[in-house]
Amino acid sequence: MKGALQLVFAAVLVAAPSGVAAWGALGHETTGYVAMQFIGSKTLSAVQSSLGSTFNFSLGPAATWADTVRSETAFKFSAPFHFIDAEDNPPTSCSVDISRDCGSAGCVISAIQNYTERVQETKLSATQHQQALLFITHFIGDIGQPLHDEALELGGNDIDAICDGSSTNLHAAWDTGMLEKNLDANFSGDPQVYAASLATRITSGDFKSLAAGWVSCIEPSALNSTACPLIWAQEANAFDCTNVFDFKTGQDLCDSAYYTAAIPVIDLQLAKQGYRLAKWLDAIFE
Ligand SMILES: *[C@@H]1O[C@H](CO)[C@@H](O)[C@H](O)[C@H]1NC(C)=O
Ligand SMILES: *[C@@H]1O[C@H](CO)[C@@H](O)[C@H](O)[C@H]1NC(C)=O
Ligand SMILES: *[C@@H]1O[C@H](CO)[C@@H](O)[C@H](O)[C@H]1NC(C)=O
Ligand SMILES: *[C@@H]1O[C@H](CO)[C@@H](O)[C@H](O)[C@H]1NC(C)=O
Ligand SMILES: [Zn+2]
Repeated sequence: MKGALQLVFAAVLVAAPSGVAAWGALGHETTGYVAMQFIGSKTLSAVQSSLGSTFNFSLGPAATWADTVRSETAFKFSAPFHFIDAEDNPPTSCSVDISRDCGSAGCVISAIQNYTERVQETKLSATQHQQALLFITHFIGDIGQPLHDEALELGGNDIDAICDGSSTNLHAAWDTGMLEKNLDANFSGDPQVYAASLATRITSGDFKSLAAGWVSCIEPSALNSTACPLIWAQEANAFDCTNVFDFKTGQDLCDSAYYTAAIPVIDLQLAKQGYRLAKWLDAIFE
């Protein structure tokens, strides 16, 4: 999983030197910018003073930090925190089970719990609080990507795939390939424009009736537990049985019915995780 992500990261650096770093960077920035539209005023102050100008005072740019440090020696420990290796059997049966799937090195569910506690721990330093906030922001994005909640073929990294004629793998197609195509075609390639569109769908569009249900688990007493992250992982993992593995060898994932079915899933997951991030941070800071 790490190798493929580093490749994706390197490709993004070469192809887009002006972009932030290598969901992929676009997905993470999108969830961060969606969250910025929904956080309360106390959360906004806390977030802005913690992130500072390094992250342009915004969860959008901050959301990619955890990917940029995961290969550094000092942050190697955080590599398993980006996913949970669900040992289920897609597309026949999908499930996430913490005791079965969250290894001794930790996983995205235990990491969200850990950094949620640490961001509230008054004895920790400002730097430690900032790192906790950066990790929460990133991992609430990762947990919504169906292949970050799947062990099969290294979360799809070991499955060859094609996206718009280019060779890739299934994991990267979901992290970046399909997302980039949709962003370029519909949102000027700009995650802020995409996030604004998702936020409008939450406020007054087709997501409006769903949004309360997305965050129904979030309350102060649930913050320090794995209850909410487990639900989020199970929800994303369910798409491994409906969409993710539903393709034929050689099919172009970015130019077929597979793509048309995947885009609404990606929109939903990014909108949902951005909204959840906002309400999770509000439960901490408001
Ligand atoms: C930084 O934030 C400001 C204010 O929200 C925005 O106008 C600007 O585009 C942002 N800069 C970058 C590089 O994202
Ligand atoms: C919690 O975070 C700290 C600081 O990054 C880390 O050293 C520790 O291993 C984490 N614990 C768990 C259970 O993830
Ligand atoms: C959660 O953990 C933090 C940090 O240890 C603590 O300050 C807070 O009271 C805990 N909240 C609940 C609801 O247990
Ligand atoms: C543009 O967005 C629409 C609506 O979500 C989607 O159906 C379509 O596939 C997108 N176009 C491309 C090229 O991604
Ligand atoms: Zn990640």
